[in-house]
Amino acid sequence: MSDSLAHSSLRNRPPIRVILVDDEEAIRKATRQWLNLAGMEVEDYSSAETALSAIEPGCDRVIVSDIRMPGMDGMAFAREVQRLDPDLPVLLVTAHGDVRMAVEAMRDGVYDFIEKPVEPDLLIDRIQRAGEKRRLVLENRNLHRLLAQRPSLESRMIGQSPAMVALRQQVLQLGQTPVDAVINGATGTGKELVARCLHEFSGRGEHPFVAVNCGAIPENLFESELFGHEKGAFTGADQRRIGKIEHAQGGTLFLDEIESMPINFQIKLLRVLQERKLERVGSNREISLDLWVIAATKEDLARASVEGRFREDLYYRFNVVELHLPRLSQRRDDIPLLFEFFAHKAALQYERDYVEPDAQELALLMDYDWPGNVRQLKNIAERYVLGVGAARSIQAMLGQGEQPESPSPGQSLAERVQSFERQLIIQALRRHQGSIQAVTEELELPRRTLNNKMKQYEIRRRDYLPG
Ligand SMILES: Nc1ncnc2c1ncn2[C@@H]1O[C@H](COP(=O)(O)OP(=O)(O)OP(=O)(O)O)[C@@H](O)[C@H]1O
Ligand SMILES: [Mg+2]
Repeated sequence: MSDSLAHSSLRNRPPIRVILVDDEEAIRKATRQWLNLAGMEVEDYSSAETALSAIEPGCDRVIVSDIRMPGMDGMAFAREVQRLDPDLPVLLVTAHGDVRMAVEAMRDGVYDFIEKPVEPDLLIDRIQRAGEKRRLVLENRNLHRLLAQRPSLESRMIGQSPAMVALRQQVLQLGQTPVDAVINGATGTGKELVARCLHEFSGRGEHPFVAVNCGAIPENLFESELFGHEKGAFTGADQRRIGKIEHAQGGTLFLDEIESMPINFQIKLLRVLQERKLERVGSNREISLDLWVIAATKEDLARASVEGRFREDLYYRFNVVELHLPRLSQRRDDIPLLFEFFAHKAALQYERDYVEPDAQELALLMDYDWPGNVRQLKNIAERYVLGVGAARSIQAMLGQGEQPESPSPGQSLAERVQSFERQLIIQALRRHQGSIQAVTEELELPRRTLNNKMKQYEIRRRDYLPG
């Protein structure tokens, strides 16, 4: 990933921000225009004193200041800035006779100086270089801070397999340059956990993490759920509603089961991702967005896009950074560690004793295929600790429910799979007395998929309601 990450972070770089200090308004105005044209953001100040109050240590800025100004001059200003943050780049603009002063300034550690009359291209080039250097300094500082926290990521994402070690590193790296990303992996492999860790271990941890399960939102409500709406935007919109996207402002939007996003909504999402702006339904006002978008999918999005179920452009937007979660059976070394982790936690939670599994039980755990991956292992570990009757036997737990009912002869594979699927849904509905919510959770199905399957197999919910 590192190649594509470096590449994409270049493309997605935020604009360089410049603090411009000059007492002459005409110069400020002209300079500002040049810099804006070069894609930079400019805050300008007519005095060093006012500029100082806007500068914070650790801020992502390049400072450009004139030297001769009434009140605090550029040299004194640069020294104050350096006191706040010694790595903040300051470019001093010097008049012709000031070369000696400039040399002195360089000796004092001021970043750079540039001679009047200022050549716009030269100024832009210098600012760009300074901005680049500043960004590296900040990334470095952040990385140091994160490395200090590393043990805590290790205690969130358990596992010492090479895949998990690499994944933890990716999580820390990606937090530095939050590029929209997709997490890919089979059911229960830890996609949501990784998304949360990405958020928590980036600079956005203090801001909201908003998870949206795209498979659970009815198609006709999608737009208003995500974008929000104004009062009166449509029949039934009797109040303004802030959408999920807006709720994630400043933080991270997690789009789970992205493959089930309705195709006609995908284009709208793409626009939001590209422009970082949205309009609530029924409003013309654009709201600027600052968010990190992380998607998750169990599907092969490349294939879904070839088959026309997923927009190709949206797929390309996400696949720049892809985190892949291997199945548990592809990292068996992690099984004992994870089992112990979940069993310990359950023992604490339910105030039970934890008796370590013996060698034979451990071998069973290691050999098992884990179709439900980490989630299934967690369930087994919890049941093991709770030790309800025979459930304490790992052998019994793992043997359970693995054998499909004996198939009727003469059916095609597809028919057998369907009849098995139908049975599973009926059993789950019976077990949960018709609670759709409970069934979607147990079978890990998006609600819409469950509805479709119930229709297809002519299963009626009311047949399973209590009473
Ligand atoms: N490496 C790990 N360390 C600790 N806990 C983990 C790890 N991986 C997964 N888990 C736990 O396993 C459970 C399932 O993980 P999660 O919900 O993130 O999976 P998922 O890939 O989103 O599943 P689904 O595809 O069904 O939505 C969660 O309780 C999660 O905390
Ligand atoms: Mg999930």
